[in-house]
Amino acid sequence: MKLGVNIDHIASIRELRKGIEPQPVFAVSICEASGADSIVVHLREDRRHIKEEDLRLIREAVKTRLNLEMSTAPGIVDIACSVKPDEATLVPEKRQELTTEGGLDVAGNIKKVESVVNKLRKHDIQVSLFIDPLKSQIEASSRLSVEMVELHTGRYAEAKTVAQKKKRLMELEQAAGYASIKGLIVNAGHGLDYHNVRAVAKISRIKELNIGYSIICRAALICLGPAVGEMKALLHR
Ligand code: PXP
Repeated sequence: MKLGVNIDHIASIRELRKGIEPQPVFAVSICEASGADSIVVHLREDRRHIKEEDLRLIREAVKTRLNLEMSTAPGIVDIACSVKPDEATLVPEKRQELTTEGGLDVAGNIKKVESVVNKLRKHDIQVSLFIDPLKSQIEASSRLSVEMVELHTGRYAEAKTVAQKKKRLMELEQAAGYASIKGLIVNAGHGLDYHNVRAVAKISRIKELNIGYSIICRAALICLGPAVGEMKALLHR
């Protein structure tokens, strides 16, 4: 199972002070050296974390694969075509949301999605569609010339009871099987953490998991001790 690491929240921390650190581009080589198979960033229309400048620097730094999460807004599509990530994942985007809510409604917007897919493909960018694990969305995706889908694992991650978790996991497993039969490479992500990831990682049809928030949260706490120690050492006269 491959791991794509989403580094948006390194930029979120920087934006708390609108300063210059931490720089997300410096996270690239650390993630790659630690086993990340791809680097994921989301250039949001409101630029709340990753900026265009970050994206260009990250493009230069990535040695594995760069996966750009993006909306279908024309301005964002133009940036993607000029930056040329290895892969673009089309996601729905609302300004008010804290994070991506729900999958892209490919079935309900087939013409619009198709035109964006075709434009990206012309620039040699592989395209993935971030969809809910539903047959209708998989069928619509398979009618477009995309290589991949990413199944939204948010409903599984948010399930409260064991029975609900089992049900959502089953949905993911069935959707992954169906998408593979349709010839699509299947990835998944959203809301995965150190407690809930293993069950999803066992689904053999899923090739890559894209994970961000839980990794950055973990990093902040694990590295807190050494960071305090380093500061304390500087206080010795
Ligand atoms: N995959 C997609 C398409 C996403 O939009 C996100 C969130 O940016 C993720 C994966 C990672 O989700 P999380 O930060 O909850 O791990």
